[in-house]
Amino acid sequence: MYTVNLNDLTPQQFLDTYWQKKPVLIRQAIEDFSDPISPDEFAGLAMEEQIESRLVWQEQGQWQAAHGPFEDYSHLGDKDWSLLIQGVDHWDEQVAELIRPFRFLPNWRIDDVMVSFATPGGGVGPHIDNYDVFIIQGSGKRHWQVGNNNEHKEVIAHSALLHVETFSPIIDAQLLPGDMLYIPPGFPHQGVALENSMSFSVGFRTSSKTTLLSNFADFMIDQELGTDMVIDPERQVTNTPGLIDTNDVQKLKQAMSSLLEDDAALTKFLGSHLSQAKHELAIDTELEEFSSQELIECFSQDTLLVRLGGLRCLYFDQALAVSSIYINGEEFTLANEFKEGLRLLADNSELSYTQLNHWLTFPEFQALVVTLINAGYFYLQD
Ligand code: SIN
Ligand code: CO
Repeated sequence: MYTVNLNDLTPQQFLDTYWQKKPVLIRQAIEDFSDPISPDEFAGLAMEEQIESRLVWQEQGQWQAAHGPFEDYSHLGDKDWSLLIQGVDHWDEQVAELIRPFRFLPNWRIDDVMVSFATPGGGVGPHIDNYDVFIIQGSGKRHWQVGNNNEHKEVIAHSALLHVETFSPIIDAQLLPGDMLYIPPGFPHQGVALENSMSFSVGFRTSSKTTLLSNFADFMIDQELGTDMVIDPERQVTNTPGLIDTNDVQKLKQAMSSLLEDDAALTKFLGSHLSQAKHELAIDTELEEFSSQELIECFSQDTLLVRLGGLRCLYFDQALAVSSIYINGEEFTLANEFKEGLRLLADNSELSYTQLNHWLTFPEFQALVVTLINAGYFYLQD
C-alpha cells in the first residue's frame, strides 16, 4: 500500500494549487520506494502480443521508434534506449496499487500506469502530452526538465514521435527513487536516464470536445434517437433567399443542443463511453463458469472481491435513481434498493466480506456479482 506525499498538501489543496495549473517536483513523495515490477518482468511483458509496448532509441543522432511485441533487446546495446509499456496496471497487481493514492480523482479520469525502463541516455525526447501525469521515479536516476506552457513549436522527430523544440526549463532536476513529478497537460518535458532506471507514470485522461460530441452522435445514431427532423411550421416569407437568418441559426442550434438536454440518453452515453478501457484488459478467457452457490461458499472473512486492473466502473447520481452501474462500456441495472451495493462495486477496487455480505444475501445482487466474475471483471482473492 503506497502513501503519497502531495507536497505536504491535502488532496484538495493539491488540486487547488497544482492540478491542471502548474508542474511540481515532490522529493520523496513515496518513501522507501522500490519498483513494483522488476526490469526483467517488465521486459517480459513487452513480449506479449496484447500489450502495447514501444522502444525508442537514437541512432547516429536520429530518433527511432518501434512497436512491440519484442523478442530480444540485445542488439540495442547498453545505452540510449528506452522501453515503454502502456496499461501495466492491467497486467500487474502491484503496479495497479500505484493508482490507489490518487483515488481522490474519479475513476473516469484515470487512464493507466505507463511504465518505462531506460538505459543511460535513453528517453523519448522533449514532448508535450495532452494529459495530466504523476511520474514516479523508480530504481535508478533520471534527469527531468519541464518547461512552461507557452507556445512551443512541435516537430516530427520520427513518424511515431512528436517532439517540441528546445524549451527553457522551469524544473530541472535529477529524480531519485521515490521522487515524483506532476505535469499538467501542455507543459513540455523530457526525461533522460542517467543510469538504468524505471519510471512509473500514473496518467489521467479527458477527451476533446469534438471527440465527445462525435462519439455522442454515434451513440444516438446506434440507439435511433434524435432522428426527428427539424421543422418550421411558423415559416415567414423571405425576400433574401440566400440568407440563413439568425432565427434559423438559433433553431438549428437548438435542434442540436436539444439532444444534449436528454439526460437519460446523455448519461447512458457517458456511462458506456467513459467506462470503456483504453488498453486491453487482462481478461482470463479460460475461466470456468462460477455459480451463485460457489460464490456463497467461497466468499468469507478471508476473501476479497477484487476488480480487474484497469476495469472502469462508473455510476451517476441521477442514474442511481434507476440503480445502474456502467462497467467496461456495459450498463447493468438492478432495482433501486441495490443502488448502495452497486456504488460499493464502483467506488472500491477491492471489497471485503464485511462490506458485501449484506448485499450478497439478495439473489439479484448475487447474480450480478456472479455475472461479473464470469465475465472476468472481478475475481475472488484469499
Ligand atoms: C518516460 O517514462 O520516459 C516518458 C514519460 C513521459 O514523458 O510522459
Ligand atoms: Co510525457
